[in-house]
Amino acid sequence: MTALLGDTVVGPGAGPTTDPGGAGLRRGAARVLLGNWTGTATVPSRTLYPHQWSWDSAFIAIGLRHLSVRRAQRELETLLGAQWGDGRIPHIVFNPSVPLDAYFPSPDFWQSSRAGRAAGAPPAPETSGIVQPPVHALAAWLVHEADPAESARRGFLARVYPRLAAWHRYLTSRRDLGGHGLAATVHPWEPGMDNSPCWETPLARIEPAAPGSFRRADLDHGAAADRPTDLDYGRYVRLAVDYRESGYTDRAGTHAFAVEDPAVNALLIAGEHALARIALTLGADPAEHHERARTLTTALVDRLWDPASGMFLVRDLVGGELIPERSVSGLIPLIVPGLPAPITDSLVATLGSRHFRTDATALVPSYDLAGHAFDRSRYWRGPAWFNTAWLIERGLRQYGAAEQADRLRAAFLSAAGASGFAEYVDPYTGEGRGTRDFAWTAALALDLSRPPHSKESTR
Ligand code: SER
Repeated sequence: MTALLGDTVVGPGAGPTTDPGGAGLRRGAARVLLGNWTGTATVPSRTLYPHQWSWDSAFIAIGLRHLSVRRAQRELETLLGAQWGDGRIPHIVFNPSVPLDAYFPSPDFWQSSRAGRAAGAPPAPETSGIVQPPVHALAAWLVHEADPAESARRGFLARVYPRLAAWHRYLTSRRDLGGHGLAATVHPWEPGMDNSPCWETPLARIEPAAPGSFRRADLDHGAAADRPTDLDYGRYVRLAVDYRESGYTDRAGTHAFAVEDPAVNALLIAGEHALARIALTLGADPAEHHERARTLTTALVDRLWDPASGMFLVRDLVGGELIPERSVSGLIPLIVPGLPAPITDSLVATLGSRHFRTDATALVPSYDLAGHAFDRSRYWRGPAWFNTAWLIERGLRQYGAAEQADRLRAAFLSAAGASGFAEYVDPYTGEGRGTRDFAWTAALALDLSRPPHSKESTR
């Protein structure tokens, strides 16, 4: 099989490759992206995640733009087509042709078109009611940059800009549950780091749903040791049911789980910078985006920076305290432009410390290597993920730490290829964990396989 996508010819992959960043890796990555494409969007995984996921699609579009700018645009526009009237972009857009029992929680659990009606959920497609990190404006800008003439010809930015701006307004207004200028997260699935040890204290207050009241589909496709536990799932289900029963209403003081997460807010800030560029390109005034980026950055530093840990921490909005756990989320703010040098120096030092540095692979674990809850296999409690590495690589380059960025890039490419584009890997060995042929791993490998200097000039 050889497929012609745009002006790029791609052929079949040869499975796992040991040629970091070379043609073999690119072919393998293209094979995954072609195989996971449904005609309107890309599934993260044909088995474990058979619908469209929000932040996955943003990362996927960033890689897909190198294969087909049109597909990358379509990926984002399919997602934005499921946006709710209040501006939220749901974390899952369900494919009606996939059987209900293929994924849990399924559309009949979320009941978006009924329970979300007052919040402006569309009558179709069915979606979840929670959100994921706002990587979309950055992705839209990068997709535009891949071929500005084609983007202009198709009116891509003009179509997506109002939707992206409404999405950011939702996060900065309705989701400012703490009233301190940061977006709050109301479910552990929202920051995308489901079972991070950061959620332990806030989750301990939640009465889990009865184990027999739902059936996990993830264990049909993933090893139990790589996935969240049944107790975690009981709490996820309880929180999602409560949110649904409230009509997916966002009101301060009504959420049993509400936190301010550094990665979510850092991505929101990076997204505001991207929206400013998009506005300028469209001949609109970028001032409101510059202003929002500035106030969000001040709030991020005031509320979440912890000098003693040398990184950003999560703030629990119910208890009011910073949560003393080191998660990769607290390093993602490296992507925020214009942070004070003492903060970025500390972040780079923390990355090189015993908490996050693995000499054998140079990958970045999702959680403190020296932390009490570290587990090298279990989802967000230790394994290294490729989307967080892509963000940190970008951040390191932005702040001139080229040597560290080069090391991480090389480690990323080698582990992505050797693991068969795993969902995540053991940070000590690079051995694959979770599912394989995972779309964002392939997409971001394709993006990073291009030499840093040949990429867009928007860092
Ligand atoms: N991360 C969740 C899962 O594992 C969904 O968003 O199913």
